[in-house]
Amino acid sequence: MKIISVVGARPEFIQTMPVSRAIGAFHQEILVHTGQHYDYKMSQQFFDELEIPMPHYNLGVGSGSQARQTAEIMVGMEEVMLKEKPDYVIVRGDTNSTLAAALTSSKLCIPFAHIEAGERSFNRRMPEEVNRIVVDSLADRHFCVSEMAVRHLHSEGIHDGVYQVGDVMLDALLFALPMARAKSDVLNRLGLMPRRYSLVTIHRPANTDDPLRLKSILSALNQTGETVILPLHPRTRKALEALDIQLNDSLRIIDPVGYFDMLVLEENARLIATDSGGVQREAYYMSIPCLTLRDETEWVGTVEVGWNRLVGAEQKNILENWFSFSPPSEHPFIYGDGNAAQHIAGILAKAETMQAFEKEGSL
Ligand code: UD1
Ligand code: UDP
Repeated sequence: MKIISVVGARPEFIQTMPVSRAIGAFHQEILVHTGQHYDYKMSQQFFDELEIPMPHYNLGVGSGSQARQTAEIMVGMEEVMLKEKPDYVIVRGDTNSTLAAALTSSKLCIPFAHIEAGERSFNRRMPEEVNRIVVDSLADRHFCVSEMAVRHLHSEGIHDGVYQVGDVMLDALLFALPMARAKSDVLNRLGLMPRRYSLVTIHRPANTDDPLRLKSILSALNQTGETVILPLHPRTRKALEALDIQLNDSLRIIDPVGYFDMLVLEENARLIATDSGGVQREAYYMSIPCLTLRDETEWVGTVEVGWNRLVGAEQKNILENWFSFSPPSEHPFIYGDGNAAQHIAGILAKAETMQAFEKEGSL
């Protein structure tokens, strides 16, 4: 099959690596970068580091309002799809790139698969939640990380083409971690000792676009008394510049780091605090206690097993949990076995054989 794979934002570049490797054995893949993320440290550094082949197309869409960004990606995707005439499209996650590619595919009657289908926060104020619901309602095949995601799809009346395959982020992590350990000098560079610092990421609009919430989180980080490393997403950097707050030296704000540095920072942290979906899961995979700076999460499984705690954005709540949160010793596999991409490639290969068989049978 000729497959168009669509990526646009940081976690999608990381996730595409295991999937591209797995489907490359069976199919021709055309990689399309929408350009949603474009700073070197948000985009190209992942291609360089992970040796992901250069995308065949970069739509260069850049930043914009929800509507403008989605619409511009749709226009670019339509041109590429009409030219390439793919048999299949793959989208992943919940970004505007995911939504735009899914809508375009649907309108051109090209079947598409959604990786990370069925996850729900049940908070429709999040653009990602809206994206997920629309994409799942249109997808032809749904590749789910968790049993809970499968249940969500069933409860929305989606039963066909639903597969629980596990998390391709875990595949990526297992593949990259040995290289990260060998190549990253981030602890030396930042003068850090294992377990003597915490790692924080913040980028959700609910936190960055609400000055009160952002100030409350940063005030808490200011007061932990511990070294806190905060690789800052450009959205958050802009919000921080507009905020009237004095930051202590123990709170160390750095540029977004590459995947290898990030894995090493995560693996050696005493604690992770984040509002990122990917980082919550990576904290779990590396057995690092995680405080989630949100009021709800899609990744409920990590909370249920006791390794992740929702602390919201309230200063007092964050500080109360900062040193007291202690996960249990049990650490079950909840999001697959690290072979999600292989499962996906196998299912797509089988689907192609079935399609060819059905076509021949109907001639
Ligand atoms: C997007 C996704 C979010 C995902 C995140 C991963 C949507 C709706 N949201 O959020 O689900 O978790 O990516 O990081 O698609 N910016 C730059 N340089 C860049 C990229 C962004 O300066 O290379 C700044 C711009 O000011 C931009 C803002 O960050 O307006 C937000 O970027 P955008 O891609 O719209 O959303 P994210 O917050 O990155
Ligand atoms: N990440 C990274 N460098 C950073 C911050 C995050 O490489 O400075 C990685 C992180 O390890 C994870 C992914 O980016 O694999 C998560 O992306 P992000 O938090 O931007 O988005 P989300 O997962 O919330 O959609």
